[in-house]
Amino acid sequence: VKEQLFINEITGFKMKDEFWNPYPWYKKMREESPVFYDERQDTWNVFLYDHAKQVLNDYKLFPSKRDRSLIPVPLSDNKVNLIFSDPPDHRKRRGLLSKAFTPHSLEDWKPRIQNIVNELVANIAKKKSVDLVQELAVPLPVTVIADLLGVPSKDWQQIKNWSDILFMPHDFQHIEELQAAKARASKEFVEYLLPIVAQKRAQLQDDIISDMILAEYEGAFFTDAEVAQTAMGLLGAGNETTTTLLTNMFYSLVKDQPGAYGELRKDRSLVPQAVEETLRYRFAAALDRRIGEDTDVFGPKMKKDQLIIAWVSSANRDENRFTDGESFDVRRKDIKHLTFGSGHHFCLGAPLARMEAVQALETFVERFSDYSIPDDFRPQDHLPPNNHNLNSLPVVVEE
Ligand code: HEM
Repeated sequence: VKEQLFINEITGFKMKDEFWNPYPWYKKMREESPVFYDERQDTWNVFLYDHAKQVLNDYKLFPSKRDRSLIPVPLSDNKVNLIFSDPPDHRKRRGLLSKAFTPHSLEDWKPRIQNIVNELVANIAKKKSVDLVQELAVPLPVTVIADLLGVPSKDWQQIKNWSDILFMPHDFQHIEELQAAKARASKEFVEYLLPIVAQKRAQLQDDIISDMILAEYEGAFFTDAEVAQTAMGLLGAGNETTTTLLTNMFYSLVKDQPGAYGELRKDRSLVPQAVEETLRYRFAAALDRRIGEDTDVFGPKMKKDQLIIAWVSSANRDENRFTDGESFDVRRKDIKHLTFGSGHHFCLGAPLARMEAVQALETFVERFSDYSIPDDFRPQDHLPPNNHNLNSLPVVVEE
């Protein structure tokens, strides 16, 4: 990606309240300008469910190969890069990675994830009053993905630091500083991974890095550098997103639907639904594509090579699609949200993220009769700059 987009220039958000609660703005856009052209960023923006879904599914009209993107990661277009490629190339690349990435069925991963969840939850039970972000939402995804890749999970804090820098949203005021920090983090991260890859090449193990070493692409094997790059991508891709899912879930079950946790205690079969509803209701996400040819599919004339943004978290509350879309309900049945994307780029790690959230919540429900968040907790006061995601969530658990 040669050029960065600044999403906050489109929303105009400056205040913490706006970052925490962008939903009134989404609603206004759905009602007043559902297909909106932003001149400064030269982007088209769509806010309705059907439009967003079409952008993500029609790869001929809206291809992924592009020079500009919201994605803040400096990825080169090598053969392991999925996100900026289109079919048929994408199919080959993804087939390769998904083969390497799901060598074991999810059922085989379950006990490894459950062990990590149990350890974290036991620690929470001991302390009773904790910051759930630090004690669960951050360590769980990073430890799990490190474990599955075969990277020492004791290094999780370092891995997390590198990933955070790599995925930090771009802010046009500090762009050069940030890009230098990202280049540094990426270099250090790859240098950390290379000896691990070399060691596994010498002695294969039961993990994803070893599977990548064995995978063949158009008659050739991956180099160590390519394996390390891909491992870095996977270690980063699932971290902040899954942390956000876990944090928002525990927030919503108390604050967005008081009493919801009690309902889950009574009927545990609701747990997977509660996870899906969190993904629909509380996840600030926007996905971009290039416009492949001049078109007026959404009304106005859009030009080839302009960019289009599908405002997924607006689509997820579109009243045309979801009855009472602006309310959180763990009993909601039809929850086909777009938070993992849609179409051929649909998140490769979705089953893993879902499994982590379901196991964490099930374990909580089994272990704790209740938990609370202080009445005076103001989410707005716990957001990093230009960011929607809570960096702390104080809870008190009851056995
Ligand atoms: C793709 C979201 C967790 C790996 C995507 C896409 C979205 C997404 C929206 C599609 C991007 C697009 O269409 O442009 C999420 C969310 C997660 C999550 C919300 C957690 C709640 C994970 C995890 C992993 C992962 C845990 C792996 C360890 C990937 C990969 C792709 C992807 C490799 C690229 C797929 C492709 O382009 O074919 N994710 N993700 N994600 N995700 Fe996730």
